[in-house]
Order: sequence, then C-alpha cells, then structure tokens
Amino acid sequence: MIATRVFGRVSVVLILLSMAGGAFSADLANGQQVFESTCAVCHGKTGSPDPDSPVLQGLGVLPADLSDPLFNSREPFGDWEMVVKHGGYAMGLAAQMPPHKDALTDEQIHDVTAYVKSLVDTSAYPPGEMNLFLPVRTKKAFPEDEIVYKGRFRRQDGPDAYKNVLEIEKRFGKAGQGILELVHVKDGSRNELTDVEVGWKQAFSWSQTYVVSAAAVLALPTDSDDGDGELQTYLAYGRELSPEWILQSSLRLKFPLDGASDGGAELAGIVHYVHSPWPRRVYPALEVIAEQPYRSRNGDFELTVLPQVRIGLTRGGHVALNLGVEIPVTGQPWDESVHVTLLWDFADGGFLKGW
Ligand code: HEC
Repeated sequence: MIATRVFGRVSVVLILLSMAGGAFSADLANGQQVFESTCAVCHGKTGSPDPDSPVLQGLGVLPADLSDPLFNSREPFGDWEMVVKHGGYAMGLAAQMPPHKDALTDEQIHDVTAYVKSLVDTSAYPPGEMNLFLPVRTKKAFPEDEIVYKGRFRRQDGPDAYKNVLEIEKRFGKAGQGILELVHVKDGSRNELTDVEVGWKQAFSWSQTYVVSAAAVLALPTDSDDGDGELQTYLAYGRELSPEWILQSSLRLKFPLDGASDGGAELAGIVHYVHSPWPRRVYPALEVIAEQPYRSRNGDFELTVLPQVRIGLTRGGHVALNLGVEIPVTGQPWDESVHVTLLWDFADGGFLKGW
C-alpha cells in the first residue's frame, strides 16, 4: 500500500521531470566551417584521422576517430567543449590537442563541438551525457567500462564489520554491460571472499537528458553453508534535472535461490550538485536508501541517508573518489557506515594518465 503510493508519486514526479528536458541549439553550418578550417588538419575532414598525414606524424599522437559512433557517443558534449576550449592537457589528454579559447569565440567552440557530435549517427548508443557520477549505493543506469573498489566500514554492536567489493564492468555491444563483482567480508565470524557476482545490464531507453536500464545479477556464495545464492534484479534511472542538478535512482529486488532466507526490495535515490564543468572538483550529493524485506519476520523497514562527496582525482576525472557516511534513520542494528569508493573509467585511458 505504502509502496504503491510512493511509486505513484515517484512516477508523477518522473513524468513531470521528463517534460522539462533541456535541448541545446547550435549552428551546424558554422560549426562545419570552423571544423574544416581549424580542426580537419589533424582530425581529417570526416573526423577520422589519417595516420599517414605528415602533420600527425609530426605530432606523434594519433587522435581517436571522432566519427566512430561508440567513441563519439560516450564522451559528453560538455567535456568535448572543455577540450576544444582549454586544450587536451587541461582535461588530462595529450597536450598536442591545442586550446582554442583565444582563436575561437565561445559560440564558435559551441558550434564546432555540436558539429563534431553530429559527424555520425549515435542514436543507437546511450549518450555520454548520461554517464553520471557514480553513487555509493544507487545503481547506475549508464553502461560503462569501469573498475571500482568499494569499501564499507560499519560500527555496530559486537565486532565492527568491513566489506570490500571489487567491481569490473565492461561494455558490450551498443547499450549492454557485463558485471563481475568479488565481495569480501570481515566481521566477528568471517574474514573471507563471501560472494562472486556475475550479471548483465542493458540500457533500453534514453535521450540527451535521461537513461533507463535493467540488470540482473547472480550472487553466488563461495561457501555452500551460506545458502544457494541470490538473484538480484534492478531498474536504474538517471536524469539531468538542469545543468547543475542530476538525479539518479534505482529499484532493486533480491530473490534468494533457496527457501531458507528471504529477499527484499531496495529503493535508492541520489541528487548531485554539479557546480562546475571541471572534472577535478569536489561535488556534494545526498543519497537516501529505503529497504523493505518481503516478510517482516526477517527484519524491518530500514531507511538511511548518505551524504557524500565525489572528488575528481585526474584532470579528466576518469579516476575519482567517493567518500560518504551512511546514517540510519530507522532502528537499524548498526550505528553508521563509512563508505569509500575509488573508480577508474578505463575507457578514458590508463589509471596513471592525466594526474
Ligand atoms: C594540432 C592538431 C590538432 C588540432 C588543430 C585539433 N586537434 Fe583535436 N585532438 C588532437 C589530438 C592529438 C587529440 C588526442 C588527444 C588524446 O587522445 O590524448 C585530439 C582530441 C580531440 C578530441 C577528443 C577528446 C577525447 O575525449 O578524447 C576532440 C573532441 C577534438 N580533439 C576536437 C577538436 C576540434 C573541434 C578542433 C578544432 C577546433 C581540434 N580538435 C583541433 C589534435 C588536434
């Protein structure tokens, strides 16, 4: 009953938000003219660089193919505008990509970036604009190439508990992503790798301002005494509310594969405040998580709030840290949890690039 009411309200809010979508306008003819006169010498007239060109051989760096739909779609418009304006070095890329802030006006930079984005049809790929900041608990909707370490320290009655998770996420196809997770727990009774999780995520609806995906993950305990494992499914949603505010939410359902234990539902949401286009900044966010076991004999409704910050570590932000404190609002059997997340978006380059 409560769930229906909450979902009713959430869907009204979501519908209202989707009507608010933001579109940008640009003069593509102007962009094309700028591209051909200023950029094509290195990037090629079609955006596909010619490795035999003496200019590029002199530079010693071969730019990526801007007309490749996967590459073109995955890089957010705003990041490319920053690269064109401030140059490759400022965004953790090669310094051979020159800054254009003195040579071109802001409008020309905007138009040429829009033109570069229009070089290839990317409609079959979720846009990189929707590759939003990784939350601590809310599931992300965007399919990505990422290696993530998540640590959690929890103060509770009895021995404190530590949980370490290593996630390997690899993009496949146009909108899919494979998931592999290793879960390690240390508490009073265990200090071991407890679960291996494998799964798949698929984005199935998107625009420049929202993305929705569905995922299924099979959690397999390493020790057969810990039951047969669990199937977890989730829906994840990401949305740009405005250039400064982003919203993400996920609904996760857990189904144990044996009759002995019970599953539950988890609804999580987060709002980030994005005050700057520079990736290497500190971005605050507030996350709220509600969990309800299917049968209350296995536990009670739990509500927690999780204030956190995202700290971009590299100039391009492809390595970033999240720090958060999760505070129970209802009567949980623990005091608070401290979360540390280190993420590396390996599609944007090696771990050591751009510090
Ligand atoms: C002197 C050669 C040169 C010129 C001129 C040049 N670029 Fe580049 N550009 C590069 C190189 C080299 C890279 C690759 C940087 C890297 O991957 O580290 C690059 C990278 C890029 C990228 C990709 C950023 C990413 O996410 O990897 C974009 C977009 C781009 N350039 C757009 C432009 C536009 C638009 C212009 C014209 C206004 C332009 N470039 C002019 C050499 C150039």
